[in-house]
Amino acid sequence: MEILGIDIGGSGIKAALVNTENGQAISEKHRIPTPRPATPEAMAETIAELVNYFDYHGPIGCGFPALINKGTAKTAANIHKSWVDIHVEQLFSEITGQDVFVLNDADAAGLAELTFGAGQGESGVVLLLTIGTGIGSALMHNGQLIPSTEFGHIEFKGDIAENYCSDFVKKKQYMTWEKWGKRFNRYLNYMEKLFSPDLFIIGGGSSKKFELYSDFLKVNARVLPAELLNTAGIIGAACYAESRIGQGL
Ligand code: BGC
Repeated sequence: MEILGIDIGGSGIKAALVNTENGQAISEKHRIPTPRPATPEAMAETIAELVNYFDYHGPIGCGFPALINKGTAKTAANIHKSWVDIHVEQLFSEITGQDVFVLNDADAAGLAELTFGAGQGESGVVLLLTIGTGIGSALMHNGQLIPSTEFGHIEFKGDIAENYCSDFVKKKQYMTWEKWGKRFNRYLNYMEKLFSPDLFIIGGGSSKKFELYSDFLKVNARVLPAELLNTAGIIGAACYAESRIGQGL
């Protein structure tokens, strides 16, 4: 099927038409900066603008940067606090007049990488971590996603992990790749101790710079950059929408 996939991030909202059979984007990616403040009203307007841009009618998949439970946002770490308990699927479906199916952004990227990217054909435990404004996680076992893990919010070094080694923290503290890579490695080792994955996949904006810090990552598991780079979220969201069609919002 051809489905519009949307990936909502802390700094930009991106969308493309996706062929869900082969995981290829079949249109140019279109990006609109995330509105500030990123309130439900402002974001809903932006989603409507994107859908209009593509002149799209049909089901839509959307990756959202929060814990999502049955279409409702349950946390708001890097978005406006008023998102908590908002039924995101309903809000976006109403404003666009289309069925919008919403899942966590990192879960979306995990699904895409598992089906079409670096995790293709992997059995065992795969842990994808997205490094951006926050840290997102997608845990997969034998080809199945275990959703809503939120490992960026696990307690680590006296705070939560994303406050220790997200890309936002790296930039804010003017860290070199070496300094950040060593920090991220400590977090990766902790994740390895907890989940013993066979494979780590590193996604988000930092996946494009993988060679600048990969030498500092020393774990037993294999570590690969996301193959779909930062289109993974869009592709995974579109595939998720396909899996939900017919199940209602
Ligand atoms: C949010 C996650 C999200 C991650 C990446 C975190 O702050 O809690 O839900 O997946 O950022 O966007």
